[in-house]
Amino acid sequence: MDLSTRYLGLALRNPLVASASPLSNTLDGVRRLAGAGVGAVVLFSLFEEQLRREAERNARLADAGIDSFAESLSYFPAGAGTDTGPRRYLNLLERAAAAVDIPVIGSLNGVTRSGWTSYARAIQDAGAAAIELNVYFIAGDPRMTGREVEQRHVDILGQVKDAVTVPVAVKLGPQFSSPGEIALRLDEAGADGLVLFNRFLQPDIDPETLAVLPGVELSSPAEAKLPRAWISLLRRQVSASLAATSGVEGPVDVVKYLLAGADVVMTASALIRHGPQHAAVLLDGLSQWMARKGYASVSELRGLLAVPAGANQAAYERAGYVRALRGANGVPW
Ligand SMILES: Cc1cc2nc3c(=O)[nH]c(=O)nc-3n(C[C@H](O)[C@H](O)[C@H](O)COP(=O)(O)O)c2cc1C
Repeated sequence: MDLSTRYLGLALRNPLVASASPLSNTLDGVRRLAGAGVGAVVLFSLFEEQLRREAERNARLADAGIDSFAESLSYFPAGAGTDTGPRRYLNLLERAAAAVDIPVIGSLNGVTRSGWTSYARAIQDAGAAAIELNVYFIAGDPRMTGREVEQRHVDILGQVKDAVTVPVAVKLGPQFSSPGEIALRLDEAGADGLVLFNRFLQPDIDPETLAVLPGVELSSPAEAKLPRAWISLLRRQVSASLAATSGVEGPVDVVKYLLAGADVVMTASALIRHGPQHAAVLLDGLSQWMARKGYASVSELRGLLAVPAGANQAAYERAGYVRALRGANGVPW
């Protein structure tokens, strides 16, 4: 069975990618994911906020009457200036890239147009095969226009692309007036891949304690429907690679994303829930389904159920909606 796949121009042994999560927070974690068979690993994110904190800390050190900052690092108290977030990240990335024989993708997570994007270069230099840029932006200011939000994504991508030569994928959320148009704009702006979709964490409310609960919840397969629909719509419209993220639990979810047109299928929640070895279950299940259906390679089945090129996409979606409601309401329109 040939599961080999191309993603962001990289040759992968199969289309299953461990997406950013705490599982890739240690060298052992990355090794275990690779050992379970995934085609690539995305490291957990390095956040703009961490980079800003590090910059502020460096500025404080420089202001503290120390003439040579570089020199100061050698005599600062043990711990200071060594194991801070960004340094730990680069160190882990460097060791992970050397330790496994699959691509390790660095993840940079931020929302402003300030200098943090230049850190992409350090991630590349540490050995990342590619960079996943997570623009986890929530337009909390109700006066911000949709165009501003979109332009912010395009500008941040431009800054990162200017900083690196490795491929760059953009992980974005679904909350745009026209998710397809922002996908096309990012594609035209040079995104090598689009990762659909970011899962926004939505706070809950505890009515007993009157508290807002931030909690991170693992996903369920129903959450795959939205990204899958957009992947099938965009498959024939963009030249960027398409990565699916959200709602993979079993092999059937991987199959469905590939049929919709995903180049790779990412998974985090299922690997957290069942352990990294669940990757082997997903891959075995994919191979078994392919054998049962008579497919010898992933490329034969990828995109079989994508929206055809030249289809009237809005009408296509509307037709599906009308058909679904007709069935549900038992109305013979
Ligand atoms: C505990 C946890 C931590 C995560 N951390 C990150 C992160 O650091 N960066 C990122 O881009 N996505 C992060 N994600 C999102 C996942 O990479 C993934 O896109 C999302 O969970 C949807 O996929 P899933 O349904 O397979 O979990 C995290 C998800 C979970 C559950």
